[in-house]
Amino acid sequence: MSTHIGALKGDVADVVLLPGDPLRAKFIAENFLESPVCYNEVRGMFGFTGIYKGKRVSVQGTGMGQPSFSIYANELFTEYGVKTAIRVGTCGAVSPEVKLGEVILAIGASTDSAINKRRFRGMNFAPTCNFEVLKKAYEVSASMGISCRVGTVVSSDLFYDDDNNWKLWASYGALGIEMETAELYTLAAKYGRKALGILTVSDNIATGEATSAKEREQTFTNMMKIALDTAVSF
Ligand code: HPA
Repeated sequence: MSTHIGALKGDVADVVLLPGDPLRAKFIAENFLESPVCYNEVRGMFGFTGIYKGKRVSVQGTGMGQPSFSIYANELFTEYGVKTAIRVGTCGAVSPEVKLGEVILAIGASTDSAINKRRFRGMNFAPTCNFEVLKKAYEVSASMGISCRVGTVVSSDLFYDDDNNWKLWASYGALGIEMETAELYTLAAKYGRKALGILTVSDNIATGEATSAKEREQTFTNMMKIALDTAVSF
């Protein structure tokens, strides 16, 4: 058992999908995995392990924001030996060109968080995904006929940001803003593991558009299929 995950070592698969919302972890397990077993209920942060296309896969909620995400990712890497971690989440697009429902594969994640400033003693680290996982996810989405964009995102500590900082990030080519991927890539680098963030665009901060619940469900399903088919090849 680790501090925040009430599971035994072998309960978690080598490959883990990481949605922010624990109820989404439950939804994924119940709708996509064969024989899912819930291995964690501590703090309602559900984790499940099941079978997808013959391979063991886990899905673990992380909560929102880098501090919460960091607790679960640290424990998955250090206590459970997770080798490949794929975040599945949503982001707000910061360019009018990026449409609602599009899938973004995050090649790198900038951040406004102080976490890496402190960790790297004021120097800057470049949080980037694993190339093999990125390549596989890109190929999987192409084979499914789902178009996706590959680019950078921003992991912000503020969902409600009064300063319109998204405009600055957008002017440096960021596609979207979310709240966790920079910490995923930093921890994967630290522990020598593979990681990728796959994000669907739930809203567009530049245009003010937002997806309906029905659209979110459909686009979420596309992202899940990409993530699961990618996961089982590692
Ligand atoms: N900001 C941060 N995270 C998000 C957003 C956003 O606008 N949309 C979805 N996740």
